[in-house]
Amino acid sequence: MSKKIKSLEDLRKLRQEKEKLTSPREGDNIQVIIGMGTCGIAAGARDVMLTLLDEINRHNLKVNVTQTGCIGMCEKEPLLDVVVPGEGRITYGKVTQDVVKQIVSQHLANGQIVKQNVVGKIEE
Ligand code: FES
Repeated sequence: MSKKIKSLEDLRKLRQEKEKLTSPREGDNIQVIIGMGTCGIAAGARDVMLTLLDEINRHNLKVNVTQTGCIGMCEKEPLLDVVVPGEGRITYGKVTQDVVKQIVSQHLANGQIVKQNVVGKIEE
């Protein structure tokens, strides 16, 4: 049975627990986690995911791509996290197909964060 959320602190704890579930598990590859909850899909996350996979192949990168549900920031969907081992986690919001192309060519391929779409950052 799931826990009841009674406060903002409960919500934060739940989010941290869920983040652990989506933290990198496979080797030293960069991990990309894309929100595919109802709000994400409604905002275009499916097309973003397809473009992401195409661009990763086009750049010949080794990246693990996984999906997650809604993290409670509907207004910022589509959301996508990039986890670089040893560097932490960047959450991007309002990720269109053009933005995801930038994320692949700048962040995944060259380590440069696409600053204008960053909505959160967790240092390692
Ligand atoms: S479906 Fe995304 S915050 Fe509710």
